[in-house]
Amino acid sequence: MLPEPHEIVASTADDMKAFGRALGRAMRIGDVIGLTGPLGAGKTTLAQGIGEGLEVAPDRHVASPTFALVNEHPARVPFVHADFYRLRDQTELAELGLDEIFDRAAVVIEWVDLFPMAVPDDHLHVTIGPTPDGSRTLTLRARGRMSTRLVEALKDH
Ligand SMILES: Nc1ncnc2c1ncn2[C@@H]1O[C@H](COP(=O)(O)OP(=O)(O)OP(=O)(O)O)[C@@H](O)[C@H]1O
Ligand SMILES: [Mg+2]
Repeated sequence: MLPEPHEIVASTADDMKAFGRALGRAMRIGDVIGLTGPLGAGKTTLAQGIGEGLEVAPDRHVASPTFALVNEHPARVPFVHADFYRLRDQTELAELGLDEIFDRAAVVIEWVDLFPMAVPDDHLHVTIGPTPDGSRTLTLRARGRMSTRLVEALKDH
């Protein structure tokens, strides 16, 4: 296995989408990926690639759910794309009904570090860090059996 944490460099937005596609192809119901990184890091871009890997219909745009907080896309398994950036408190968090969603969908959450208690222990945590040359470093931390399987899916990428 690759050493932990795993670091990947994505030089372009297309690279980012390609890594997302590899993750999305491996995702199953109950899998959770939490994304963190500064504004404009590329979280939504990665989520768009994951949506492609999950076989979201090509005419369906995986947009940033910053205002909707949660978007759901029909796909090979239901794809739920959430964003905690505008979530104010635990009450709003509870209203999202994530626990029910984790049971029936593959889930990606942007800004997960704002409410880290909201996700299962076993999730894949991805930190996206911009580099001075304009590319992005992805740091992947697997937190259990499910998330380790997702990291494994990237090793041949
Ligand atoms: N690996 C990459 N290298 C260079 N540019 C990238 C890369 N990934 C994404 N980008 C570009 O960075 C910009 C911001 O991307 P994106 O909207 O995905 O960021 P975000 O992290 O979701 O932002 P926000 O915090 O506002 O939700 C886009 O123009 C996108 O094309
Ligand atoms: Mg975004």
